[in-house]
Amino acid sequence: MSFDRSIKIAPSILAADFANFGAECAAAEAQGADWIHVDVMDGHFVPNITFGPAMCAAIRPHIKGVMDVHLMIAPVDPYIDAFAQAGADVITAHVEAGPHIHRTLQAIRGAGAKAGVALNPGTPAQAVATLLDDIDLICVMTVNPGFGGQKFIDMGQKIRALRSMIGDRPVHIEIDGGVDPTTAPLVAAAGADVLVAGSAVFRGGSVNDPAPYGDNIRAIRAAAESALG
Ligand code: DX5
Ligand code: ZN
Repeated sequence: MSFDRSIKIAPSILAADFANFGAECAAAEAQGADWIHVDVMDGHFVPNITFGPAMCAAIRPHIKGVMDVHLMIAPVDPYIDAFAQAGADVITAHVEAGPHIHRTLQAIRGAGAKAGVALNPGTPAQAVATLLDDIDLICVMTVNPGFGGQKFIDMGQKIRALRSMIGDRPVHIEIDGGVDPTTAPLVAAAGADVLVAGSAVFRGGSVNDPAPYGDNIRAIRAAAESALG
């Protein structure tokens, strides 16, 4: 996984057909997805349940590029090795998920994955100030985690603060929640480079008719890139 700040679109399979994840991942990549975003929920840290490491391992062979695993679980540490062994390229843990985020991030890197830290809308940028050399990605939640299809919450000021704190470090800023062609320019202009989008990518298409995925991905990318001038 090489580092750059170009705009990357990461479809979230939370909005895909749960009976067809392998084919959905392949279709999204064939239609232009840069990363595949995989939302793991435990019904404890967030009020919804999705799936665990066995599902990640099952879909891994269907993803050629980056598998970006977003853990909305607490505790995190007992499961890191399982997600790394499932083939996650990036493992992101929430700073709100426990008292020892630094230990968690070290364990993720120790397991051979890139380490991401996610911030809920109510958590300030300052929460990662002492972690900047221990992370590869900051995920700025622009919805309260747990569900797809929620209304975008403007975190522009927080994204700008993070972009400035990161400086020259090779740390991605990822945006998760309510990203579509209307909101993508706001987050791209503020300094984000990885745009997660669930409903705005998978709407209108299916594995048997994946062309709308491509239209949707291109629309989000074009809107984001237009904000960069
Ligand atoms: C929310 C998840 C998101 C979600 C985004 O808890 O982390 O990745 O799938 O869905 P949309 O793009 O529909 O807001
Ligand atoms: Zn997510």
